Amino acid sequence: MKHKIGIIGCGGIANQKHFPALSKAKDRVEMVAFCDIIPERAQTAAQKHGADGAKIFTDYHDLLAENDIDIVYVLTPNVAHCEISVAALGAGKNVMCEKPMAATVEDAQRMMEAWEKSGKMFTIGYQNRFRPDSQALKRLCEEGEIGDIYYAQAHALRRRGVPTWGVFTDKSKQGGGPLIDIGTHSLDLTLWFMDNYEPASVTGVTFNKLGPTLPPHMQGNGMGPWDPKTYEVEDSAFAFVTMKDGSLITIDASWVLNSTEERCAASYLCGTKAGAELTGVGGENNEKLYINKIMANKQVKIDVNTQAGGVDLFPGKNVEAADVECKVWLDAIDGIGELVVRPEQAFTVTKILDAVYESAKTGKQIVF
Ligand SMILES: NC(=O)c1ccc[n+]([C@@H]2O[C@H](COP(=O)([O-])OP(=O)(O)OC[C@H]3O[C@@H](n4cnc5c(N)ncnc54)[C@H](O)[C@@H]3O)[C@@H](O)[C@H]2O)c1
Repeated sequence: MKHKIGIIGCGGIANQKHFPALSKAKDRVEMVAFCDIIPERAQTAAQKHGADGAKIFTDYHDLLAENDIDIVYVLTPNVAHCEISVAALGAGKNVMCEKPMAATVEDAQRMMEAWEKSGKMFTIGYQNRFRPDSQALKRLCEEGEIGDIYYAQAHALRRRGVPTWGVFTDKSKQGGGPLIDIGTHSLDLTLWFMDNYEPASVTGVTFNKLGPTLPPHMQGNGMGPWDPKTYEVEDSAFAFVTMKDGSLITIDASWVLNSTEERCAASYLCGTKAGAELTGVGGENNEKLYINKIMANKQVKIDVNTQAGGVDLFPGKNVEAADVECKVWLDAIDGIGELVVRPEQAFTVTKILDAVYESAKTGKQIVF
């Protein structure tokens, strides 16, 4: 029998990522209900992607009351993730929630408790783990090629990349800016490569110098002009995270920064045997993986061609990360594969990012 899917939030990420991925999995799923507080969005989504007789709701409680739905997608702005995911898990649904898990660590804690009580499957939409370059680097880490990783950098740098759709610059709806929005992907990747989820302390600084001050004609924003008057979140954030085993991670995240670099969902690892650079998405060096090590007593930098395929289960570029994310999620629900993005891992990401904001606010180091 096909899984019956209910979608809550029919905006950008629903249309860009989940509708296309779920549409390609039509032999396994059908989208039977769509909810959005803007009814036209649910209506359009149902017409384009819904099964025959797909239902439309503006209140997510009504969607959750549909007994035949077994999987719910939570694709709303960040602050609503907690309330809706907790209710969905409580209603006995498997839940795919978009990143970040939650806007605060308290919310994330509530989601963890609801998940543990529910006995259901729960994951967070960190699709960057399913890029061919990320998969290849994870495998190299697991095979011990990098050795013990004791210094890492999680990069989420955009020179001018303020999202101008939705509510991304509204603190009350998103909880924060680039740190929680794109820094979350880079930190998730970095912790996963290191397989280290034990933070010891966090020191962070945030800035909001350009977001509220640059007039539209001087912004040069890749996503069109933003409104400086309503820009409430940080425009860049930087952090220094020590781990219990003594290793160190630095984080940089920006939507607006006068930097020459552009690298998102990127990670840089230094281990006892080799180093690795995952250049990430965007910029001139898109989705490259370099390994640096010593061979024949020489320093070499190896360009790992991850676009040509050859990584078990996760072939080359012809497969979208979003489609692999969807397949892994459905396989885990069907008991034929392991869940890759585990809730407790996403919880640690939120715990660290929340501490960066707390440290930036108080000017103090946060010790866990
Ligand atoms: N994985 C990624 O790379 C990625 C990329 C972009 C956005 N996201 C995440 O996806 C989420 C949504 O972002 P978006 O770009 O789609 O934003 P969006 O504003 O385009 O879409 C969100 C939709 O949710 C609806 N909504 C808000 N509150 C609701 C509620 N209580 N019940 C039902 N619908 C509600 C809005 O009307 C809107 O249509 C955010 O958490 C964001 O961080 C993830």
